[in-house]
Parts: sequence; structure tokens; C-alpha cells
Amino acid sequence: MLTSRDLARSAPPDLLPGLLEAQAAGVGVAAASAGHQPGLPIGYGTAHAKVILFGEHSVVYGNSAVAVPMFNLQMQARAWRIDAPPRFESAYYSGELRHAPDFMAAPRAAIEAVVEQVGGSLDGLAVSLHGSIPIGRGLGSSAAAAGAIVDAVARLHGTELAENDRFALVQVAERVAHGKASGLDAYATTTPHPIRFREGLATVLTNCLNATLIVADTGVYGSTRQAVELVRTLRGRFRRRIDRVIEELGALAELAVSDLAGDRVQELGARMNRAQELLAQLKVSHPAIDRLVGAALKAGAFGAKLTGAGLGGCIVALAHADSVDAVTQALREAGAAQIWTLSDHGATA
Ligand code: MEV
Repeated sequence: MLTSRDLARSAPPDLLPGLLEAQAAGVGVAAASAGHQPGLPIGYGTAHAKVILFGEHSVVYGNSAVAVPMFNLQMQARAWRIDAPPRFESAYYSGELRHAPDFMAAPRAAIEAVVEQVGGSLDGLAVSLHGSIPIGRGLGSSAAAAGAIVDAVARLHGTELAENDRFALVQVAERVAHGKASGLDAYATTTPHPIRFREGLATVLTNCLNATLIVADTGVYGSTRQAVELVRTLRGRFRRRIDRVIEELGALAELAVSDLAGDRVQELGARMNRAQELLAQLKVSHPAIDRLVGAALKAGAFGAKLTGAGLGGCIVALAHADSVDAVTQALREAGAAQIWTLSDHGATA
């Protein structure tokens, strides 16, 4: 019988959904802290999911984006010392770090970078990673994984990373995972606040919104690397037209900042709808996204759009408290694989 470890060795990155199924079936789930000697320290790190409300893709070209935290989906990492070669334990691959398959290159890069940063040693280092953030759904799983790992390894070495150092380390892994990465995910999966992000700088936003954000998963794996590359290629061919789209997406993010502060729900919803039209022009929407967006709007949402890189992944809809049930029901009927609602305090399943 094929184990998830066998699958992991041979799987290219886009086979990760298959590995997730293996995980759900309970195959190959690593024992926590295997080989840990009682009494020796363990370093812990956690990071949460994020929902991009505005500015995905356009943020890669220096425009503003707005993102909010989603607390009940998390990644957790542990680091400890073992009497064996460096190891990595996860639902997707468990084994010696040096044999980790290509799709584990980003966590591996995070481990190597943080060890160098804290002046530590890879010898006898074990790192485990577990979590509930679905992979390839635009919710920041790769940045959250890298963030949890760098904190766990740094803490094992008695170091609390400064914000800038942590950001730089997560970005090392993000560039391996996605190629060009704006850094939005690195911040948004760490900070407990809604943020505006632009050119490497995050500012905390006031959110007075008296409405509910609903996140629904299409169940379709969307590759961030592929989506970012697609927009880059499109921009190379139709520079002026695509730059206009990218700039308008950034302008919507800027306008959304005051909508959030002033509880302007209708305006915010309309801007989400416009952002979805523009993202479709960037070719990063998907029939499953269009289906869920259409269902949410028909059921009374003020606005709905893809969130994250697109090509699959999740949508986010904005609804009045009175229509949350109707929107949720409509999303379920339209085939949503999972649905979460976000309150002021993060997310509830
Ligand atoms: C991915 O979550 C967001 C993108 O804008 C890429 C990035 O910001 O690096 C698509």
C-alpha cells in the first residue's frame, strides 16, 4: 500500500491536494515531537490564516492591499533536539530534512534561514509542522507555515525574533514557494489586526464594520506561483491595459480603508464586486469562484470576490447579520467545500 510518505517523495507541488486527502484519511500523520528527550526544551511557533479583502496581485506591483486575520485556522510548529540527523515531521512528509521532496523546499528554506540567523546548528534539529489552514486556498498556508517554523526554531535557540528579521525569514520561504511575493501574507498571518499593506509596510486599520465576512472554499486548488506568473505574463503583453487594472485594484484598497473605519457596508460591497470584475480581467478567476460569488450575491450579500491568488481557492462575501444564514446556505448549495464566518474577533467555523 502507498503511504503518504511514498506519495510525498514522487509528488510535484500541485499534487498536494492528494496529500491532504491522505492526511484526512489519517495516513502518515507524524507523531508530535518524536525522539524528544524529556527535560530538553521544545520551541513552539504558531501563525494564523488571513483573508485578503482588497489588493491581491496589485500589491505585488507596489499598490495597497487590505487583509484581515482569520484566527481559528492555524499552523503550529515545534522544534527540538534529537540524537539523529536533522528531521522534518508533517502530514505531507516525515523523514530526514535532506531527503525532503521538492514541495517541502519552502519549509526547508525557512529552517535553514532561521538557523543561520540565530547562529544555531542544523545538527540534531527536529522540526514538526501541523495545522488546519488548507493548502492552495488563498488563506496564507505557506506564509503561516514559514512563520510558525521560524518562531519555533528561534525560540528553541532562546531567541525572540525582531519583527523585521522574522519578516525577512518568512520572505525567504515565500520566494521559494511562490516566486515573487509582496510580503503581504508574511505580515497578515502574524498580526492580530486588520492591516493595510504597501511596499513592505503594514499599518493597523480600524474596523468598525457592522457586517459579517463569509469565506467559502471552492475546493479547487489554486497555485499562487502560477497565478502571479499569469498576471506577469499578461502584463508583459498588454502593459497599459493591465497596469490600469492593477492601479484600480490598488485604489479600491485605499478607498476600502475609510469604508472599514466608517462602517460603509454598501460601498465596501460594491468595491468588492468591482474588484472581482478586475481580477477576472487579470484571468485569475475560475468557474468555481464565479459560481460561489454569484450564489452569494443572489442570496443577498453586499459584495463578493475571490480572496488570495485565485485560479481556485476561496471567495469572501460581505453580508448583513440578517442574511448570513441565507448566504451560507446558498454557498453550500452552490458547492462550497467549506465555509467560515468572521466576526470582529476572527473566524468561527
Ligand atoms: C497571495 O496571497 C497574494 C498575492 O497578491 C501574492 C503576493 O502578494 O505575494 C497574489
